[in-house]
Amino acid sequence: MKARVSVHRDFQIGSIDDRLYSAFIEHMGRAIYGGIYEPGHPQADEDGFRQDVLQFVQDLKIPAIRYPGGNFVSAYNWEDGIGPKDQRPVRLDLAWRTKETNQVGINEFARWSEMAGIEMMLAVNLGSRGLDEARNFLEYTNFPGGTTWSDLRRSHGVENPYDVKMWCLGNEMDGPWQIGHKKAVEYGRLANETAKAFKGFDRSIETVVCGSSNDGMPSYPEWERQVLEECYENVDYISLHKYFGNRSRDTLNFFGKVEETGRYIQTIAGAIDYVKAKKRAKNDVFICFDEWNVWYHEREEDGRRIREWDWPEAPALLEETYNFEDALFVACLLNEFIRRSDRVRIACIAQLVNVIAPIRAEKGGPAWRQTIYYPYQFASLYGRGTALNVGVDAPTYDCRVADDVKYLDVAGVHDPGTDIVTLFMVNRHLDEAAELDVSLTGFAGARLIEHLSMEGHELLVGNSGADPDRVVPGKGDGLGVEDGALKGSISPLSYHVVRLSVT
Ligand code: AHR
Repeated sequence: MKARVSVHRDFQIGSIDDRLYSAFIEHMGRAIYGGIYEPGHPQADEDGFRQDVLQFVQDLKIPAIRYPGGNFVSAYNWEDGIGPKDQRPVRLDLAWRTKETNQVGINEFARWSEMAGIEMMLAVNLGSRGLDEARNFLEYTNFPGGTTWSDLRRSHGVENPYDVKMWCLGNEMDGPWQIGHKKAVEYGRLANETAKAFKGFDRSIETVVCGSSNDGMPSYPEWERQVLEECYENVDYISLHKYFGNRSRDTLNFFGKVEETGRYIQTIAGAIDYVKAKKRAKNDVFICFDEWNVWYHEREEDGRRIREWDWPEAPALLEETYNFEDALFVACLLNEFIRRSDRVRIACIAQLVNVIAPIRAEKGGPAWRQTIYYPYQFASLYGRGTALNVGVDAPTYDCRVADDVKYLDVAGVHDPGTDIVTLFMVNRHLDEAAELDVSLTGFAGARLIEHLSMEGHELLVGNSGADPDRVVPGKGDGLGVEDGALKGSISPLSYHVVRLSVT
């Protein structure tokens, strides 16, 4: 197959918000307990944080992390997680039918985030609780001192406030499964009042209101319109969630779900524009895609277990093992986020450790990286700067979820600081190589400085604790710069990161 790609210095989508490469971690399964925190593990520090897991996290250069949930947050009392650990209550977590020991709370998580070099993005409980607890939490985390909650924080050994700037107003409030689930107008009003109070405290705080849990919800996209009509002026982002699977074992259709996601983003952008116009508002609201990932391998088994189990502490839950096909899908999805970075400012891989995660931590044993770790890492490391509006002329296919899906998926980023252009490319064709001709208009003196690839693996093969490096990136070949253009061939079902120094 022949593919012509046009990259032009002046054809830009705009500046990418670094937070496009953020993550999410919930008090759920073995994400916190047995994931980032495992006291007694040979790799744990004096506070119980696993340094092997931390190293893998640091290597991702994650800008922000959403915490503590997820469904968990909708019945969470943040006060249970502060003060002396031996006096913290053990509670039932109704979302996942487990026991929460509260041995990790806001202060422990803040310490871990600081070690990881990640900014916290906190969610408040607008399910079982409301504005009052949320404002107390804000005072505890963000006020310097001299008030009840800020002095309590200081008495817990944290002198300086955390000054948290990003606040999520609940989680998936459209979902009937959510504890404290609400109707759109009811939730929109509560979100508005909470956001108003937070911005009244500090105008530089950014708020994220809950959009739909997924684009299959019966209330989608009416939910977005109704919620935004209640709170538009006081929110900065509306969240989207979407998880992906290939249950029917149809690889091309699976890849087509990236185009479906493009429609989802476009629809929410339309709802935002409609409400903005209706309200004659001045402010912009952007999209925070704060839960995304592949999630289907373990789903049915966990569902059975959750109904049967007897409130265990930190059980293995949603521990997906990812394969090569999932890595190709994640690479394409990240490309879509770059292409839609005009509207999507924040996105969070869900989740980070053990639970539907790029990093796995064996109990008492080693940590290892899943196949999807690598496309996420490369996007985070090299996908910063200006998103380019790349033209792709390649053969297409139709599938159940989308028509005219290009076999070649490309996103391009120019980092003006280093003058490096990075191309992220996936050849989705099942059996044909792509003969590439990539013009680089306006970028003089292009020189190939690095070519990384993931290719040549069976689609269903992944990594494991016993074989952690079975599917890893390697040095790519077959591409070179000729007469100012990138030319060469990439194999079927392959992922490439091509970095070019330009002037
Ligand atoms: O990430 C797992 C769960 O998926 C989250 O708790 C919830 O927000 C979503 O439904």
